[in-house]
Amino acid sequence: MPAASQTPADVLELDLGAPAAGGACVARAPDGRVAFVRHGLPGERVRAVVTSETAHFLRADAVAVLQASVDRVEPPCPYAGPGRCGGCDFQHVALPAQRRLKAQLVEEQLRRVAKVERQVTVEPVAGDVDGLRWRTRIQLAVDGSGVVGFRRHRSHAIEPVDGCLIATEEVEAVGAERLRWRGASGVEVAASGAQRLVSVSGRRVELPDVEAGVAVDGRPVRGPHGLRHTVLGRSYEVAAGGFWQVHPGAATALATAVLDGLDPQPGETAVDLYAGVGLFAALLGERVGETGSVVAVEADARACADAARNTADLPHVRIRTAPVDPGTVRRLGRPDLVVLDPPRAGAGIEVTRALAGLRPRALAYVACDAGSFARDLHVLLGAGWQLDALRALDLYPMTEHVELVALLSPGPL
Ligand SMILES: C[S@@+](CC[C@H](N)C(=O)[O-])C[C@H]1O[C@@H](n2cnc3c(N)ncnc32)[C@H](O)[C@@H]1O
Repeated sequence: MPAASQTPADVLELDLGAPAAGGACVARAPDGRVAFVRHGLPGERVRAVVTSETAHFLRADAVAVLQASVDRVEPPCPYAGPGRCGGCDFQHVALPAQRRLKAQLVEEQLRRVAKVERQVTVEPVAGDVDGLRWRTRIQLAVDGSGVVGFRRHRSHAIEPVDGCLIATEEVEAVGAERLRWRGASGVEVAASGAQRLVSVSGRRVELPDVEAGVAVDGRPVRGPHGLRHTVLGRSYEVAAGGFWQVHPGAATALATAVLDGLDPQPGETAVDLYAGVGLFAALLGERVGETGSVVAVEADARACADAARNTADLPHVRIRTAPVDPGTVRRLGRPDLVVLDPPRAGAGIEVTRALAGLRPRALAYVACDAGSFARDLHVLLGAGWQLDALRALDLYPMTEHVELVALLSPGPL
């Protein structure tokens, strides 16, 4: 909703163009500035309220649709919309159109940053029907009176909610959104097996008996201390608060894409960078067998402890607790295969340059940010590498986010 302090001068009628990062569409304001408009769709004419501005561009929220796109739908979530919950970007967009928008966003980053022309198709992952009920983990913010909600877009303000349509039934069955969490500043709910009574600031809060764990201010208050997941027949344990892909179909989809792309052979050597709890390292270890080897590099000691446990049956998989930096990469020797799955910031130019020097048979780059991926891809292409395949997976329906799995190989020397 428009803020009360806004004047009529803050309201513009705009024609929306291509999608832009941040869940927005690009438009041209009457004064010539570029406008990034959320809650609209390409081709729409909207009335938009300016939410912030600089000398060069402005941000706005579409508050009335004057000419609607055929891809517009009624948002299933009652908390979505201008000025409301910032968790989703595309609740007002039909699911197939969401995927086309994400494909366009990726294509634009590839074109602009990596200088690559490539048509992208965003694929749904197994188990996704309507883009809802996929978050196995939610992070709620808590206000001074203990009421929880999600942050509004680009704001610290909290939108109180009594449920989240993209969270799984298991997460929702905890009902954390409907409880008072006085004294806490953040509550996280993640799917797991659990006990019922938790203590928050000395008070007892009773939760329903469902399969989910709860952490308050980063501290698990209800166990067990790990979540269990199965991927391609392997079981993984993840300490509460540790990294695991959020969509229930994600880990299997990514592992399948990486293994299909790399096609590991018995006896090969592989490295898994930013390895987390060893999702790829364990599966690579199975494929290369005892005549091969895998080195997994991960900075977080707790994740490394999980990775060691998750690969305990594979003595040829070594877990190295270290940051991935150019030095670490150069010390990896000459692996046949590389997989890297860095956080949103990507591997970075220096690490990517070091990777280019390894010249493995094949490299799989798993990326949750198209912009940083395109920057790193540009480095590899500049070093003579080729982009052999690129898949885009819709691991985050209703949001602007998309996961990429790129398969690359060094060109001839
Ligand atoms: C996107 S997760 C990927 C984890 C794993 N591949 C998976 O899919 O479950 C990124 C991981 O990189 C780790 N990480 C972040 N920065 C790092 C760095 N500079 N060096 C090593 N690991 C890092 C994080 O702790 C996290 O486990």
